[in-house]
Amino acid sequence: MSAEKVGKVAVIGAGTMGHQISLCCALAGLETFCIDVSAEQLEKAEAFVKKYLPEGVSRGRFTEEEAAAAKQRLRFTTSLEEGAGEADFVIEAIVEKLEPKKELFRRLDEICPPQAILTTNSSFFVSSLLAPETGRPDRVCNMHFFNPALVMNCVEVVQGPHTSPETAAVVLALVRRLGKEPMLLHKEIYGFLVNRILRRILDEALFLFETGVASAEDIDSAVVNALGHRIGPFALMDLIGIDLSYHVAMERYRDSNDPADKPSPTVVEKYVKGEWGRKKGRGFYSYGK
Ligand SMILES: NC(=O)c1ccc[n+]([C@@H]2O[C@H](COP(=O)([O-])OP(=O)(O)OC[C@H]3O[C@@H](n4cnc5c(N)ncnc54)[C@H](O)[C@@H]3O)[C@@H](O)[C@H]2O)c1
Repeated sequence: MSAEKVGKVAVIGAGTMGHQISLCCALAGLETFCIDVSAEQLEKAEAFVKKYLPEGVSRGRFTEEEAAAAKQRLRFTTSLEEGAGEADFVIEAIVEKLEPKKELFRRLDEICPPQAILTTNSSFFVSSLLAPETGRPDRVCNMHFFNPALVMNCVEVVQGPHTSPETAAVVLALVRRLGKEPMLLHKEIYGFLVNRILRRILDEALFLFETGVASAEDIDSAVVNALGHRIGPFALMDLIGIDLSYHVAMERYRDSNDPADKPSPTVVEKYVKGEWGRKKGRGFYSYGK
């Protein structure tokens, strides 16, 4: 199947990532189903779309006609059969836990048309953990969007040893159809490109802070003003959530058993105190209410 033949997309999970990925697909002209086990999440996703589209029109991002067409193309359902039964292309964006993802891929393999491509938006699980759950490993791949998906204009595509070159080509072309830049990884590796590079930056920033070399504010200022990043590492940790940094590091440590992979003392302290960043009103910075 070529990317032009992809007409129907199923996005599974309507959380932080899924609701925006669904809207990206609908805006790009794809018939899209946004699927979630939670009707409440789907209601929130639908409410977001109703607010986002008129705002996008008034900001000149797209025309009124384009917004109306995208709204028509995007449907919401709790039924996997209804949403994925005719899909050419699936983007899984459910909770970051391996067993539910495996179970979902088994069900998708039964429900979806045999030619459909099944991708995962997982931040850390490579698709070779999921491909054996299906009878179509050659059509399974990672497709990793960034948060917020409607704003971030790049997507990592990770080709596993099981992924056929044709599948990788369709995924890359679909990323371009969504108006985003694909970055292809020829090999599976934990954390892909961006999270691996980011980890080095965050670890070094935490080292400089913890050893008293400079304040969080000055380290952020150095990264923004001298390196030209849009946001400094401490402000970024507050944005992503220090709880997430903690869990990701713990997961890495459990996997490797290497003490160097443990969350840094500052991250542990902030995690225990509940100072998780913006979502809690306090992290490395204070955000009021
Ligand atoms: N949050 C981020 O910044 C980010 C960035 C890139 C990638 N990711 C990845 O995207 C995926 C989703 O992350 P998120 O932050 O959107 O999670 P989230 O917790 O906000 O949303 C997950 C959604 O999946 C639904 N769900 C759970 N099990 C389901 C099932 N079996 N079928 C259908 N729906 C189900 C939940 O009800 C929830 O609405 C994860 O794999 C994560 O690693 C997250």
